Parts: sequence; structure tokens; C-alpha cells
Amino acid sequence: MEEIFKRGPLMLLTGRANEPLCQEIGNSLEAGFEGATVRNFADGEIFVRIDRNARGRDVFIVQPTVAPADYLMELLLLIDAARRASAARITAVVPYYGYGRQDRKDQPRVAIGAKLVANLITAAGADRLLGIDFHQHQIQGFFDIPVDHLYAAPVLTDYFRQKKLQNLVVVAPDVGSAKMARGFANRLDGELAIVDKRRPAPNVSEVLNIVGDVDGRPCLLADDMVDTGGTLASAVRALKERGAAEVYACATHALLSGTARDKLSAAPLEEMVVTNTIDIAEERRFDRLKILSVAPLLSRAIKYIHLNESVSQLFDTAPVDKQGDT
Ligand code: R5P
Repeated sequence: MEEIFKRGPLMLLTGRANEPLCQEIGNSLEAGFEGATVRNFADGEIFVRIDRNARGRDVFIVQPTVAPADYLMELLLLIDAARRASAARITAVVPYYGYGRQDRKDQPRVAIGAKLVANLITAAGADRLLGIDFHQHQIQGFFDIPVDHLYAAPVLTDYFRQKKLQNLVVVAPDVGSAKMARGFANRLDGELAIVDKRRPAPNVSEVLNIVGDVDGRPCLLADDMVDTGGTLASAVRALKERGAAEVYACATHALLSGTARDKLSAAPLEEMVVTNTIDIAEERRFDRLKILSVAPLLSRAIKYIHLNESVSQLFDTAPVDKQGDT
């Protein structure tokens, strides 16, 4: 039996947002996840109950706060249930931090959703939070509880390294992603190019220019999230028009909303690589979509947190910033 289970009682719980990921984490921890009943009343109100004794347990609740907001509510209720059941410590494991795009008051009369969600998670009773690739790294500072913020970059770049792409250019699909893309370029021995994008309307993306030499070279677009697919699809086309030999794209969080599937399938893209921080419904998938698992990364982090060990050994990439665009 692993050291981890001699040290103390770990309890792994999940809501309904990404059960397969929690199952995988449980398998790799050889712990399995323990039952919580999560269901709706006839009117939609959510009910949760932790099915086993949680007293004194080190509780990890895996739940991305992707839309609909019911998933956030499930997380809050599970935290509250664990606190009232006398858990020793509660860690919210939020592989995708929804509302992260609303991180500042950049227009009059808007909410700062990322801060509100941090307040809610804290008020519900979480002792710490474990997340991956926040939209802005500064979101860590929205919490007054410890936050372990992981990067999916090692998972994604390990995959692309195996392709042995020669003369690679890593392309930031907007200025805000430039530092993140630079981190990828460093890890893959590639050069950096940047797309100058503008948004004439919300969720509409237009490429103005590409800074960097992409002619005749394989390109890898790297972003933290793909939502409607507009940013990536228009960047892929612009790269092809400027002579890129082949274009790959990767993103940590695959929201794949609306017509993203159609847009990306129609784009001249070799492969779109994402992770399973969000459970991707079958109808949102397409042939050239490759899904990599963050379960090994999260399992190791959970194990280190449980054992009160440093998680910094999981950061085998320099932190990469992201600023600006949404
Ligand atoms: C912007 O800052 C983000 O990194 C993504 O580029 C953006 O949210 C993607 O949205 P969409 O897929 O709808 O263009």
C-alpha cells in the first residue's frame, strides 16, 4: 500500500461537472472516489449529501466551475456539507475556474465574477484551492486561502515534443497569450509569433496582423481556452494565408461552445489538442480533436497536498503569464 494511505484519511468527492476526471484521479491514487449523492428537486434546486463519514477526513472535491452555474452551486454545497460533517480540511479542486474571464472592472457597471466566485468558495468553507491555468494568474490573489495553481503546459508540450516538429513556430493567438506561448516555445525549442487580434463584438474575433515569420514552417497555436473557436479558427486561416506549412492548436480548457466544433472541423488544422479539465460531451468532439488527461498531474498534486509536501516539483515549466484579452 502506498505511503499516502498510511498517513491519513483522504476523501475524494465530485459533483456532476466532470465525474470521469474524478474517477481517473481516484484510479491513479488507488483510492477511488467516495459517494456523494447529488440530485435535483423537481424544481431544479440542488441537493447534496456525502454518503460516508467525513469526520476528520482530508476532503478533496473535484469540480470545474464550467457553465451552467449549477456546477458552481454543487461545489459550494459539497464544501458546505463537508464542513458541517467535520472534515479536517477541505480542498476545492477546480480544474477549470469558470468566471475567470471577469477579473477586472474594465467597463462601467460590470461585475468582477472571478473575485465573487473566490469569495463564494471561501465563504462556503474551503481551506484551499487547487486549479489549473487560470485565465489570469493574478486570480490567485483573489483568494485569502492557499491556492496551488498548476500549469497544463507540461502535459501539452510533452505531446507535441513527440511529434518532433522541425523549425516550429509557437503562435500566441492574441497579445494576452504571448507570455504563455513564449513558455511553450521555450519548452519546444521553437520561435514565437503573435497574432494581433481584435474583437469587434463579444465572441467575434478578427485577425489584423501576424508578428513573426511563419512562412513554410509548422505552427502551433497555444491558448488557455477555446470557447466558440473563433479566435483559433481565424488565426489558423491567417497563418495559412501567410504560408504556414501546417497548423496545430492547443488549449487547456475546451469549452467548445455553440458552433466551435463546426468552425474548428472546417479550419485547415492538423490537430486540435486540449485537456480534460472540462468533460467534453460527445457531440462537441470531432475527428482531429485530441484530448489529453490532466488526471496524473492532479493526482500527484492531491497526493503532495495530502502529505503536506511541496507541489512545486510539478512546475517543470517557468510560470507563464497571460494578460489582457478575453
Ligand atoms: C482570450 O483571452 C482567451 O485566451 C481565448 O483566446 C478566448 O477566450 C477564446 O475564445 P473563442 O474561442 O470564443 O474565440
